[in-house]
Amino acid sequence: MSGVLGDYLNWATQLERALRGVVANATKLDLRSLRGLVFLGMGGSGVVGDILGRHVEDVVTLPTITVKSFSLPRYVDRNWLAVAVSYSGNTLETLGAFQEAVRRGVVVAAVASGGELIEISRKLRVPYVKVDEGYLPRTALPALLAGTSKLLEELLGVRLGIEECVDVLRDRTALDVAEKLAHFLVGGVPIFVVPDRIYPLGLRAKNEFNENAKIVSKVEVLPELGHNDIVGWEGSPREWVRFVVFRDMNDQLLDFAASYIKELGYPVMTVDIGKSSYIQTVLYGSWIVGMASTILAKLRGIDPRETISISRYKEVVRRYFKSLGS
Ligand code: F6R
Repeated sequence: MSGVLGDYLNWATQLERALRGVVANATKLDLRSLRGLVFLGMGGSGVVGDILGRHVEDVVTLPTITVKSFSLPRYVDRNWLAVAVSYSGNTLETLGAFQEAVRRGVVVAAVASGGELIEISRKLRVPYVKVDEGYLPRTALPALLAGTSKLLEELLGVRLGIEECVDVLRDRTALDVAEKLAHFLVGGVPIFVVPDRIYPLGLRAKNEFNENAKIVSKVEVLPELGHNDIVGWEGSPREWVRFVVFRDMNDQLLDFAASYIKELGYPVMTVDIGKSSYIQTVLYGSWIVGMASTILAKLRGIDPRETISISRYKEVVRRYFKSLGS
């Protein structure tokens, strides 16, 4: 199958290919001298930091943060590693933060399919991975995840095991699940409910429905939702929202949330996405929401490919930067 849905259906192959990619200018860092790891990136590239950050924290004792803006927090210094991820390699927020990292003497590395980020990395001879071109950034998630994880494996001398995700992306029932989810969401605004341990999946789901299906969407996280959102549910209009609960394991709080939302009179769909590890679960869930948001776009008569508003925003940022330089 071609088009955006075809790109999602092909994720297992995309991941396998990206796992064969090479790290340019690879060097091994002394883990003991590192204080933290910061990912720099926006949108479909920034979410790589959210997803991988938690996985890295499970493997090494290193705090991770993701910066989705033009500049870095003050505490990021030369004892930190900054990994810039930008599919196009030309996102100005990411380039701004990357250049600031270089100026501060932070250890830097990059992942992109081309653009300025690759050019600068070559010039500075810093470690980088160039992933395959030709995708929409959001459909390139397996390539970006594999590229970033290969880079970290080389630099930190650890094993992140992304290859274990290939099999979950071959699950033949996934398309059916995505179809059901898309049909459930017709006519409503999706609210995703996730436990904190897989929060990056909730974020990814929101972004996918924003960009592919062009619809407002929201993420609510357990246990925090039990202290605020849950009260909001009491008095909101029932007809325009659809709750989707991502269930990754037996969890009484999650089950309570699903049944309480139902009790209050909202439509709820529980999607079982649990696999044997965090990274498998989040990638499998990301695959489902990628396909479902593309199918919903089709059902709504919308082109999943176009993101006119992002282009308009990027044009304003570009003009702003140009005005600063002149
Ligand atoms: C578009 C998309 C966006 C981009 C974002 C940053 O498909 O997913 O969220 O990812 O605008 O651009 P890149 O990824 O090129 O740095």
